[in-house]
Amino acid sequence: MFSENTLWLMLAIFSLSASITLASDPDPVQDFCISNPIFGAIKTAHDMHYILPCKNSSEATTEDFVFSGLKKATGNFSDTGLAVVSASPTNFPGLNTLGLSFARADIEVGGINPPHFHPRATELVHVVQGKVYSGFVDSNNRVFARVLEQGEIMVLPKGLVHFMMNVGDEPATLFGSFNSQNPGIQKIPSAVFGSGIDEELLQKAFGLSSKQIGTLRKKFDPKTAR
Ligand SMILES: *[C@@H]1O[C@H](CO)[C@@H](O)[C@H](O)[C@H]1NC(C)=O
Ligand SMILES: *[C@@H]1O[C@H](CO)[C@@H](O)[C@H](O)[C@H]1NC(C)=O
Repeated sequence: MFSENTLWLMLAIFSLSASITLASDPDPVQDFCISNPIFGAIKTAHDMHYILPCKNSSEATTEDFVFSGLKKATGNFSDTGLAVVSASPTNFPGLNTLGLSFARADIEVGGINPPHFHPRATELVHVVQGKVYSGFVDSNNRVFARVLEQGEIMVLPKGLVHFMMNVGDEPATLFGSFNSQNPGIQKIPSAVFGSGIDEELLQKAFGLSSKQIGTLRKKFDPKTAR
């Protein structure tokens, strides 16, 4: 049997891992912290997203708490038929420190949002127009997916791979909320084939020829193609 010390150690490890599992963005320590536009302008520095410095709160205006950038689709569709526009503290300063963010996704008929995940946020997706096959895969490789109709919402648990496809006969529009101001995104195809992982490793992992790997690398990142 376990000694009393071992049991205490196991309990300590269990409570530590429980608190890690429950971790989320920190609670605000003031009413709001409107991100300073000087720092908000650094849009390409991903590490800068997280808790930006505040501007002087005496200078806050209603406009700092309103964002109009999601009224329309961007019209900038990817080759999979997806257009996403996000509201995060870099373009919506009032969100800073409040622990959430938002996005609009438009998907053309037959278009997809390829498998991807958000390392730091659970997503709640709301179909406002169209019919969308939507789902996620858990860590036992079980798929939970079905066609969502207009008005339905689905929760996509934090860190799990998820995907969408417009299976209707009109463009689809979805809104997604995230319980982090910096959810992060890893797109599976480009993380695997577009990141520069050694070719031999990819051949062995997927049972594909050098030529097939080359085709995939070219598709997901022209820079690493040979
Ligand atoms: C914030 O703005 C107010 C009003 O303009 C000013 O009185 C105050 O000194 C400013 N605070 C800081 C820390 O700059
Ligand atoms: C359109 O999307 C591409 C990548 O998908 C991006 O590089 C480009 O900056 C976007 N253009 C606009 C106007 O948003």
